[in-house]
Amino acid sequence: LDISKLSKGGFDHFMLKEIYDQPQCLKDCMSGRLFADKDNPSNNHIVLSALTDYKDRLMSAKHIIIVACGTSWHAGLIGKQLIEKMCRKRVEVAYASEFRYGDPVIEPEDVVIAISQSGETADTLAAIKLAKEKGALIFGIVNGVGSSIARETDTGIYIHVGPEIGVASTKAFTGQVTVLTLLALALGRELGTLNNADYYQMIEELSEIPQKMEKVLEKAPIIKDISRMFTYAHNFLYLGRGVNYPVAMEGALKLKEISAEGYPAAEMKHGPIALVDQDMPIVFLATHHQLYEKIISNMQEVKSRNGRILAVVTEGDQQVKKIADNVLEIPRTLNALVPLLSVVPLQLLAYYVAVDKGLDVDMPRNLAKSVTVE
Ligand code: M6R
Repeated sequence: LDISKLSKGGFDHFMLKEIYDQPQCLKDCMSGRLFADKDNPSNNHIVLSALTDYKDRLMSAKHIIIVACGTSWHAGLIGKQLIEKMCRKRVEVAYASEFRYGDPVIEPEDVVIAISQSGETADTLAAIKLAKEKGALIFGIVNGVGSSIARETDTGIYIHVGPEIGVASTKAFTGQVTVLTLLALALGRELGTLNNADYYQMIEELSEIPQKMEKVLEKAPIIKDISRMFTYAHNFLYLGRGVNYPVAMEGALKLKEISAEGYPAAEMKHGPIALVDQDMPIVFLATHHQLYEKIISNMQEVKSRNGRILAVVTEGDQQVKKIADNVLEIPRTLNALVPLLSVVPLQLLAYYVAVDKGLDVDMPRNLAKSVTVE
């Protein structure tokens, strides 16, 4: 363990340092696993020892169940979309706390993926033990090397993002999403459910995410300015669709101290729209993807009720700019990789709002870094 990783390195808070650490963390996470050859993309490939060792078992999995809590559960929701799309396998995502007491149906052919930054979360550990008793293969996606969860799993992939000190999880989330992407790509390749062109292109794009993330971080001064306008709001709504729906929930979780809710955008009409007025900031994840037009129409509904809109958009977007009060641009990437970039402005927004409010950023009240009790 490098001692510099335990200092704030000139930043005011660990949370801010960890947000800025993310490009390097993702390079570390992909190092020795992702090989991208720009001159000859047909050489692009992924090597995961867990997949080599348990190849048949993973390929023949009837059903994949992801168990996790909090931020790790949000990463799991993105993982479900990636694995279902690239591997054509049915994936369920469960809160570990519900799973452990819910008498879940688990077959010996199933694979249970446990996601945990600390590797010490009591509910996730208990969920693993239950699944193990029923004969499932337990696959860990963990940061804490040698942690209880790492020891309890049959195999897995460390995220290797270094120790996360701030209670609000940031670099662990992007590390978890990166590992889930690597897993979905490698498994999809083995299963033959992912065509060559998509496989090569995804690898190339994934290798470029750290540089693109640097570009998002350069926008921090703009986000800092915007955050001041939002400091005194009582409620926030975060709306996104597809892969950006779990990002909306994660952005809201980062802001929980001042009350924020994350929703799939289309659910707004089924309740949350009643909250919308001129005092309600609404954060839209409105990047270019297949549901872009739909999110624009959700945005218009909010605008007609005078809601104040902050939208995360793809660089060069013109359509959203006409509707939103403020926009934050992120570089263009493939739809499946958008969460790795779209979550960064939301982390920064939560950070600056908490600083403006004079809150304890690294140790929000009533929270502990590892929840080792029920
Ligand atoms: O260590 P874990 O990933 O198992 O922790 C699970 C949650 O307690 C954790 O993700 C929590 O939601 C975050 N610290 C919130 O930012």
